[in-house]
Formats: sequence, structure tokens, C-alpha cells
Amino acid sequence: MKSPIGIFDSGYGGLTILKEIQKRLPEYDYLYLGDNARTPYGTRSFEVVYEYTLQAVKKLFEEGCHLIILACNTASAKALRTIQQNDLPRINARKRVLGIIRPTIENINALTHTRHVGVLGTPGTISSGSYPLEIQKLFPDIIVTGEACPLWVPLVENGEYDKEGADYFVRQHLDAILQKDSFIDTLILGCTHYPLLINKIKKYLPSRIHIVSQGKHVAASLEDYLARHPEIKSRCSTGSLCRFLTTESENTFANIASIFLQGNIQAERISLK
Ligand code: DGL
Repeated sequence: MKSPIGIFDSGYGGLTILKEIQKRLPEYDYLYLGDNARTPYGTRSFEVVYEYTLQAVKKLFEEGCHLIILACNTASAKALRTIQQNDLPRINARKRVLGIIRPTIENINALTHTRHVGVLGTPGTISSGSYPLEIQKLFPDIIVTGEACPLWVPLVENGEYDKEGADYFVRQHLDAILQKDSFIDTLILGCTHYPLLINKIKKYLPSRIHIVSQGKHVAASLEDYLARHPEIKSRCSTGSLCRFLTTESENTFANIASIFLQGNIQAERISLK
């Protein structure tokens, strides 16, 4: 049976990915799951992020999804590999779970001239070392500097991302990463929540620095993946519908998601275990 493509994030951040995927591939159905009750994941241990992500993946499988995108860097960094290698063969070897780190970094080669790249992310993503590791595999000459921004996700989740108070925290981490490496000419927003802070980021980042936001790259990579995997593509339903699941209040989710996606959204509350 055909089914929607599952999109998972710890909260609202994955909506920035969903939006770009829907723009590029509007014909498919999508099922978004935000674990808003347990966000943020970025400060949690490897074991907990893995456990929560696996629960979400199982839920989306139960809902029928054949293909899931972990639209969360923290989950991609800490849970993806184990789920792909250990859990999928056991649960259902015909299903697929994809992450968003690889599609993001494939594009940096053409952007950086100094070969110094910065990555902003949650403490979990930065301490996992996933970005430098993956970048090393593809472009060994690139020097990668990371900066964890622990308060950026809470600013977004609490609707403070466009308020004055956010300026202080945005500036603090942009200054810090450029102090660590002043040759950076390309900066990856390695957290799906961060595009919501883009106006503030642009305000405090020198204009010579390229900002790499993930949505468009992930959407292009998904299109390419579906073209290369007709057996998966044929199992994705195409009715241009989108459902939203959240582990917190459905009304709060619907209100905030409606702002992100500029449309009227209904959400359903579920629990994960
Ligand atoms: N949006 C997620 C990411 O891309 C993480 C947010 C969180 O800390 O839960 O890393």
C-alpha cells in the first residue's frame, strides 16, 4: 500500500525542511511528527536521543510510512546510523530512514574558497563530531570549526526568535565562531530550527560569509533519491496532502506551525513509547 513520506523532528525545526520539500515535490503526501513534549533533543545524551528517535520512527512506520526523513541534525548525528544498521533489518528491511547531514555538506565544496567552514548546531550535534567527520570523508582539505548554540532551539520553540532578546544570543555565537576561526567563509546552519533566526543571523554575520541553510539541499537530495530508488518511490502516495502529529498540545502546534508554513494547519496529539 502507498503511504506518505514521514518527516520527523524534535519540534518545529523540521518544518523548515518540510516547507522546502513540499515546494520541490508538491505531489507527494507527507506525515510530519514533532516530539514537542520532549524537545529539545540537543542537550540530551546519545542513548536518549536514540531511544526517542527510534520511538518516533516506529510510530511513523505504524502509520504506514515506507520512507522517513530525520529532519533533525541531532537525531541524524546520534541515532541514524544505529537505526539504519541495527534496527531497520530487524523491523522491516524494505523501509528506509534518511538523515540530513550528508545532503547538506555535499554542497559546500563549491562555496568555500578559503576552505574554512563553520558549523552551528545543538550541543549534541557539535559534540558528536558528525559534521567534521562527514566533511573529512568528502573534502579532506576543508577545516571545520563547530560552535554549539544551546539556547537557539528554545528561542524558536518558545516563539522568541524574532524578538529583541534573541539578538544577544545570536550575536554571542556568531562572534564566538569567528573568533575561533576568522578565515571561515561558509557557515552551515546545522540545526533545522536555525533558519527561523535567519534575519538575526544576517544582521550580525559579515556579508562575505555564505550561509548554508539545509532545506533546499535536503529537498534536492530527496528528489534525487526517489529517482534512483523507483521501488521506494512507487510506495509513496501522491495526493498533495500533509498531516501533522505532535506529542504536545495539538492547538499550540497548529498555531505555531501555521505561522511557519503560512497556512491553516490541523494537528493530532499522539504519545510515543
Ligand atoms: N532541530 C533539531 C536539529 O536539527 C534539534 C533541536 C533540538 O535540540 O531538539 O538538530
